[in-house]
Amino acid sequence: MSRLPTAELHLHIEGTLEPELIFELARRNAIVLPYRDVEDLRKQYEFTDLQSFLDLYYANMAVLRTEQDFADMTSAYLARAHAAGVRHAEIFLDPQAHLVRGVPLETCINGVAAALRDSEARNGMSTSLIAAFLRDRPAEEALGVLEQLIAMDAPIIGIGLDSAEVGHPPSKFTAVFARAHAAGLKCVAHAGEEGEPGYIWEALDLLGVARIDHGIRALEDEVLVQRLVAEQIPLTVCPLSNVRLRSVDTLADHPLPRMLARGLNVSVHSDDPSYFGGYLDDNFAQLTGTFGLGTEQLAQLAANSVRSAFLGAERSSTLLDEIDQWRDSQPAD
Ligand code: ADE
Ligand code: ZN
Repeated sequence: MSRLPTAELHLHIEGTLEPELIFELARRNAIVLPYRDVEDLRKQYEFTDLQSFLDLYYANMAVLRTEQDFADMTSAYLARAHAAGVRHAEIFLDPQAHLVRGVPLETCINGVAAALRDSEARNGMSTSLIAAFLRDRPAEEALGVLEQLIAMDAPIIGIGLDSAEVGHPPSKFTAVFARAHAAGLKCVAHAGEEGEPGYIWEALDLLGVARIDHGIRALEDEVLVQRLVAEQIPLTVCPLSNVRLRSVDTLADHPLPRMLARGLNVSVHSDDPSYFGGYLDDNFAQLTGTFGLGTEQLAQLAANSVRSAFLGAERSSTLLDEIDQWRDSQPAD
């Protein structure tokens, strides 16, 4: 079966660092890791909640020091995403996670951007970069980093909001997002992953976001669901992530089918694939196995991802045509 053509809209580039690459970069940078080997590191990938994952995710970033490190991580992701059928990727980068370690903004931005630059020529995959701010750090710091990104004319299309959600509501970042809007940047935010539905309301009303990342707790608030459906606000859902971070008990308990049945504009993404047991193709394969999704539903999810992307009309229409061709090439369900 040919791969389902999709747009990846919820992907943290630092969450694509595979254990093998972590060890390779550690060797290159003479960093001693607190794990014996790749297997020992993999054994740490047992999470109880978002914070338990974030602790390891940030710790492993210690191996990223040079532009080349950031470029190698990004190239490895692009090759894997291409194999997964990704035709367009909007990629999150966490600049503050590197700045606090003494890695300059230029190093991480230029390294990732260098690898993205030849993606279209190499793999036919269009890409763009989104700078995500860490909500468990001060809003003033985020504003300062945003000003630096604007001043250096960084190759970003927008900003996001991620990291530990509970206790750090979107309202904390109203000024940051107002500045981003004024600079013509697209705005998205994680909300309703672990946080209450009120965080989704705030992201929409106070931050003016165009998409909600995760948003799975929206189903707890009927009035919110009606608004999300009426406005067809995109929700970038990450099923394997939600299982591994225990937002849901098992994949069979995942709300995705209920969200689709309610008419919500959901699409499927991989979040931090090296930590959560799968890239986009793995997410689709497991969803198909668990829920028996058919060709129509898969094509619908893929089309939602393309329509929710920050793409021009021409590229969007090309990718929607590819999805139609994929649908027509499938055997009858
Ligand atoms: N940073 C990387 N992955 C994340 C997630 N799933 N939620 C919040 N912040 C993140
Ligand atoms: Zn995420």
